[in-house]
Amino acid sequence: MKILNLYACLGGNRYKWDEVRDDLEITAVELDPEASRLYRERFPNDRVIVGDAHQYLLENYQEFDFIWTSPPCPTHSRVRMSQKNKDSFIPMYPDMKLYEEIIFLQHNFKGGFVVENVVPYYEPLIEAQKRGRHLYWASFNLPYNINERKSVNWARIKDEITAWSVFHDYDFRQYKGNQRTDKMARNLVDYQVGKVILETFLGIEPENIEQRMLF
Ligand SMILES: C[S@@+](CC[C@H](N)C(=O)[O-])C[C@H]1O[C@@H](n2cnc3c(N)ncnc32)[C@H](O)[C@@H]1O
Repeated sequence: MKILNLYACLGGNRYKWDEVRDDLEITAVELDPEASRLYRERFPNDRVIVGDAHQYLLENYQEFDFIWTSPPCPTHSRVRMSQKNKDSFIPMYPDMKLYEEIIFLQHNFKGGFVVENVVPYYEPLIEAQKRGRHLYWASFNLPYNINERKSVNWARIKDEITAWSVFHDYDFRQYKGNQRTDKMARNLVDYQVGKVILETFLGIEPENIEQRMLF
C-alpha cells in the first residue's frame, strides 16, 4: 500500500503506522532540509523528498492509495489571531492552499485522504470533522473518539522541549534548523491520532487507549 505523507515534519502522524501494517511504502515531502534529514533518520525506509508538498501533490497524487496532508496552520490559527492587539502582530492572508488541497482531493483523488489543520479563527470554508482542537477533512468518517492523548500536565513542566519530547517520543533537541525548536515540536500530530486514523481508513477497529497525563 502506497502512502503520501505531505508536510511531513518529523513524522508525528506517521510514527505508529508500521504497527498498523507492515507493507507500507511511504513517500514523505518536507520543505525544511533539517527536518527532512531527521525524518529520514527516524524512518529510514521512507522515501523522503525535500521540496514543495503542494506542487508534489498535484503532480503525483495518482500514484498513491492514501494521502495525509498537514499544511502549515499559522495563518489559520486562533492562537495567532488572539495576539492581534499586540504591536508585534503582523496581519496575514489565510493561506488558501489548505482549501486548494481539500477541493483538489475531494474532486480528483479516488483513494483515501486526510487533510489535517487547526480549528481556524474564522468559520471553516468547507465542512470538516472536528476532533479536539483540530479539523479533519477526510474521504471517510472518523470515529468520534480518535484516542487523542491528554497533553502533558503543564502545571508540572518547566521545560517545554522535554515535555514535547516525551509526548512525541522524539528528542527535539536534535533539530538544528531554521525554525524554532519549540514551534517545531508543537507541529507534530499526536501519533496515536495518526494511527487511529489510518486504522479507520483500513477498516481496523482501533483499541481504546488509556487517557492520562504523561507527567
Ligand atoms: C504542521 S507541520 C506538519 C506536522 C506533521 N504532520 C507531523 O505530524 O509531524 C507543517 C510542516 O510543513 C513544512 N512545510 C511548510 N511549507 C511546506 C511546503 N510548501 N512543502 C513542504 N513542507 C512544508 C514545515 O516545515 C512543517 O514541518
